[in-house]
Amino acid sequence: MLSYIISGGNKLSGRIKASGSKNAALPIIASCILNPEPVTLYNIPDIEDTKITLEILKILGCKITRNSDKIIICSKDMLKTAIPKDLMHKLRSTVVLAGAIIGRFKKATFSYPGGCNIGARPIDLHLDSFKKLGITIDEKDEYIHCKCKEIVGKRIKLKFPSVGATENIILASVYAKGATHITGAAKEPEIKDLAKCLNSMGAKIYGAGTSEITIFGVKKLHSTSYKIMSDRIETGTLLCAVACTGGTVTVENADAQNLLTVLYSLKEMGCKISINRDKIKLKAPEKLNPVSVETQPYPGFPTDMQPIIGAILTKAKGKSIVTENIFENRFKYSEELVRMGAKIKQKDKTLEIIGVDKMHGEIVMSKDLRGGAALVIAGLMSEGKTTVENIEYILRGYENLDEKLRMLGANIKKEKVV
Ligand code: UD1
Repeated sequence: MLSYIISGGNKLSGRIKASGSKNAALPIIASCILNPEPVTLYNIPDIEDTKITLEILKILGCKITRNSDKIIICSKDMLKTAIPKDLMHKLRSTVVLAGAIIGRFKKATFSYPGGCNIGARPIDLHLDSFKKLGITIDEKDEYIHCKCKEIVGKRIKLKFPSVGATENIILASVYAKGATHITGAAKEPEIKDLAKCLNSMGAKIYGAGTSEITIFGVKKLHSTSYKIMSDRIETGTLLCAVACTGGTVTVENADAQNLLTVLYSLKEMGCKISINRDKIKLKAPEKLNPVSVETQPYPGFPTDMQPIIGAILTKAKGKSIVTENIFENRFKYSEELVRMGAKIKQKDKTLEIIGVDKMHGEIVMSKDLRGGAALVIAGLMSEGKTTVENIEYILRGYENLDEKLRMLGANIKKEKVV
């Protein structure tokens, strides 16, 4: 088991570069399955989730060449269409591989995906959408077998704007006969990035980033090079780490446009924020103001930032309210914060956080990716030593988080505990 050991209390300041987006990289890597010609991707974050996804592609028969943040994927010789259950269980986003495999081969076998335990996370919207596209689904021995003669474009109305289901429909429809029209689509910027990447290969996807997306089926795709967008959640995490420790930071390679609700909340908390092209500068106040945030699908406040904001509000000047509307089990980090001295009460979907003057170091346990990052931030703003255990979750989604925080002046190191 790996842990972060943090000695809290340092004021963080400096310049830091955001990595490529995890949530854009994963479906974009999947999209390479659709294209038998080589695809060159830049800005892929070097994190566990991308490593696992690339490993699955390799097992399926894709050729992968990696050189720093540049990756060339060639799926020309891919023959296998079944995703091994053990790898499928490692992360939730493996489910979008299904749309890409069916899109190319008209058949796919996979199991229910794993990933962070932050709620029930069913895949009914994915499977119902596949059925609408003419795909037959047969569930047997813990495996889901999908097949069809051809995928036929249809109107699909999503009853909830699921990010993964929207991506899966896009991927499955790229080679469909006719047009697929999604209403109630998720509007997250990572979906726009997936569509931009696919369009650069010759796909015809319109409206991504809005609630109505149309995919006109094409006969083939061609080689492309594509740079993945920057990670808005990592950017937000780094800004919050500085906001609560009292310094000034410039995050480079950032996209403020995709982070407006978070930047607005940080401004309400008293941070001074300026934006210059791909740079976001934040100057922290002496003490943060309390705020109320409520998670919503994009462009609302992102659920992935909820634990991070929850952590920094523990030392704000008064009472904050944090409401989680997307996942029903995303407050587990708050019990650990209470052990560090935070005053938090949970009532259903809401946390009431009363700011305290001091928090103290503790041995705490990360239970999911963003909740783990929230504990790291809590450690940075607490007195004494904090050990965040089980950081394998954090390594899934943050590239060199400890190194980046050290560059800003944090006292944090990674340790292997046997
Ligand atoms: C993606 C992101 C994740 C983010 C989430 C919400 C990736 C790799 N992950 O996850 O970081 O927190 O969007 O912004 O991009 N739902 C169903 N049935 C389904 C699918 C989803 O009921 O078939 C529900 C989920 O249980 C959840 C909600 O819809 O309550 C949102 O899920 P969804 O948007 O699908 O999230 P993911 O794509 O899994």
